[in-house]
Amino acid sequence: MDRRTWLSLTAASLAAAAPSLKAFAKDFPGGLAPRGTFGKLERLPFRDLESNEDFLTTYRTWVQAEIWRAADRRAVALLKEHGIDPQAEMPMADALKLLEPDPIIALSAQTWLRGQELMWANMVREFHGNADKYVAEMEAADKAGPGTLELKPQMFIPDYAKHEIHMQPGGYVGNEFAGHIYYYGTHNFYSGANYQDETHAQYASKVATPADGQVKRVLELGCGTGQMAIALKERFPEAEIWAVDVGGPMVRFAHMHAVDCGANVNFMQALAEETPFPDGHFDVVTSYILHHEIPAEISKKVFKEAHRLVRPGGIYFPMDTYARRPIGRRTARGMFSLWWIHRWNQEVWTIEYSELDSAAAMRDAGFSVNEQGPGAWPGYKYNLLGTKA
Ligand SMILES: C[S@@+](CC[C@H](N)C(=O)[O-])C[C@H]1O[C@@H](n2cnc3c(N)ncnc32)[C@H](O)[C@@H]1O
Repeated sequence: MDRRTWLSLTAASLAAAAPSLKAFAKDFPGGLAPRGTFGKLERLPFRDLESNEDFLTTYRTWVQAEIWRAADRRAVALLKEHGIDPQAEMPMADALKLLEPDPIIALSAQTWLRGQELMWANMVREFHGNADKYVAEMEAADKAGPGTLELKPQMFIPDYAKHEIHMQPGGYVGNEFAGHIYYYGTHNFYSGANYQDETHAQYASKVATPADGQVKRVLELGCGTGQMAIALKERFPEAEIWAVDVGGPMVRFAHMHAVDCGANVNFMQALAEETPFPDGHFDVVTSYILHHEIPAEISKKVFKEAHRLVRPGGIYFPMDTYARRPIGRRTARGMFSLWWIHRWNQEVWTIEYSELDSAAAMRDAGFSVNEQGPGAWPGYKYNLLGTKA
């Protein structure tokens, strides 16, 4: 028996013996529950794999962050040497010419990328190396409740969705373990603040509600591994929760995760810009870090679809990142980072997303837009709240 199975048995017996342990885990000081014995993030099955992951998470959080700060300082020094105000805006081509050849800046980019590659490689080795076991787990969950899963193997997958964004092998649609790989990969990305989906719970707590307070049906677009959808169910326990994603493996994993958590969420493989739901079906539509990973033209379509889907007075609350307007972050260092994320971390749509005036596009879609909505992060697009008249 591997540790994962053993620990889940331990969890079951602990939970049966003392149901309050789960509640205790949620409120554990610092917000982090003791890991692995119970809770949401299932432990990796072998200690060597987990220690590899722990090393890479620690490396990213402490070492890489420090190397990155050294590169920031280096960029400031270089700009000053050239008589340029580091806060001044600079076209991307000029920023690259100036900053890319610098060895400290290059080192920061290279070490980050290699860490990322190692992280993915660990996950691919585990999940593909034990494919039968992990497929059997998903098969066992496919028809289980409380929520539902709808996969559409024949669905048209647009080319823009096939990229290996942030270098994830096979991306979201081309690897049957995409959900597994993403879930543990983002655990690393969230520097470990993911054991109990706590990052998602934090953002779910900021999701706006319609002025009349009615939240009967909620939809998440681009739900990935379902962490936000599950957090939304916890926030709105009486509401019917739906979540869609273009990636079949993503919703399949999401459903399995929801079944494990006992969360009544309905997952469906569907395009965010073309869902099968009726007009005005939802009180709240939301998305979390979807828009920076789709072309700007598709973002506009998603805004229109969200507008179609919410009832009058209903809202769309997209939470996303990398906004460069209206608050300018187009400094030389900012432009270098944007290029680097686009080119090397393969966030292929992020430059055009940064150039999209999302508030204007939401208005074009029919929403009235509050640019200082709940959970506003200055300079980010976390703050856009669209309300349907
Ligand atoms: C960065 S992930 C975010 C996932 C999830 N919201 C989370 O909380 O981690 C972006 C997700 O959007 C999905 N996606 C990309 N384009 C999409 C589209 N057109 N329709 C639906 N989902 C899409 C991807 O498959 C991926 O799972």
